[in-house]
Amino acid sequence: MAQDETGRELGHHERYRGEHPIIVEGLKTAFGPQVVHQDLDLKVRRGEILGVVGGSGTGKSVLMRAIIGLQTPTEGEVSVFGRSIAGSDPQQEIGIRNRWGVLFQGGALFSTLTVGENVEVPLKQFYPDIEPELRHEIARYKVVLSGLPEEAVSKYPSELSGGMKKRAGLARALALDPELLFLDEPTAGLDPIGAAAFDRLTLELKETLGLTVFLITHDLDTLHEICDRVAVIADKKVIAVDTVPNLMELDHPWIQEYFNGPRGRAALTAQALDELRKHMDEPVAAHAVKALDKANSKKDKA
Ligand SMILES: Nc1ncnc2c1ncn2[C@@H]1O[C@H](COP(=O)(O)OP(=O)(O)OP(=O)(O)O)[C@@H](O)[C@H]1O
Ligand SMILES: [Mg+2]
Repeated sequence: MAQDETGRELGHHERYRGEHPIIVEGLKTAFGPQVVHQDLDLKVRRGEILGVVGGSGTGKSVLMRAIIGLQTPTEGEVSVFGRSIAGSDPQQEIGIRNRWGVLFQGGALFSTLTVGENVEVPLKQFYPDIEPELRHEIARYKVVLSGLPEEAVSKYPSELSGGMKKRAGLARALALDPELLFLDEPTAGLDPIGAAAFDRLTLELKETLGLTVFLITHDLDTLHEICDRVAVIADKKVIAVDTVPNLMELDHPWIQEYFNGPRGRAALTAQALDELRKHMDEPVAAHAVKALDKANSKKDKA
């Protein structure tokens, strides 16, 4: 069972009310001689979308796996909903495992099952006594909630586009009405419009379902648009957790390159354009942003 901050066990229908549903302290993870994390600390606030960024291979996915108990830390503590993850009895862990949903990097749908059946997998696993009819109904609801047409329920993953697969994975992650949602690169491989739609959906779900979201991404637009804070992984630890504007002020080479490099600025310009559109005519806004871009590129050359 999960606990509140006083250590009281939470019942099945009670939600976690503590401030930090995820706390990682002094984490070390290593594969043989390769040390991926060393002294990594991170606290995720309840109700936030926390973006997690870092170069490829810096250990973002491994961190997520450590938090959900799929990767045993070499040292350190991981607690979720006030309960230690590492080394706990798998049977006891069921009480918290059904409180989170995960969209793995690459989607990982079962290819021999339909979308609906994929969503039913966690339902069967955690609530084997639910009647099949009700289970189908819940699965259908989650599929629609994830922005797929109802017909998608009976489609196989191979019959879906990349964007639809991500939504099907999301539907499965939402199957158990989680309080915590883990998304590993949800918009990778989507076109910009599909990615923006997925971002909006994530934000809407967070707001309507009161989720806390741990969101690994390389997508600068996602970071600007929907993340409350962003954790930066470099040098084997979380070197900073802050809002994007505050991170951009930091004097770390990777952070500067990432947020203030050409792609970082393009994302910022796109966001400025969005803001301007809200207040002025489209052609005027586009003109203003072009001027801003030009000024920026001049600054680069200087
Ligand atoms: N099961 C494993 N066994 C051995 N090494 C692993 C294992 N899983 C991950 N690693 C190694 O740990 C390091 C971090 O991997 P991880 O997948 O967390 O990177 P990442 O930050 O998610 O990268 P990307 O942005 O490319 O997804 C890599 O060097 C990887 O090779
Ligand atoms: Mg990864």
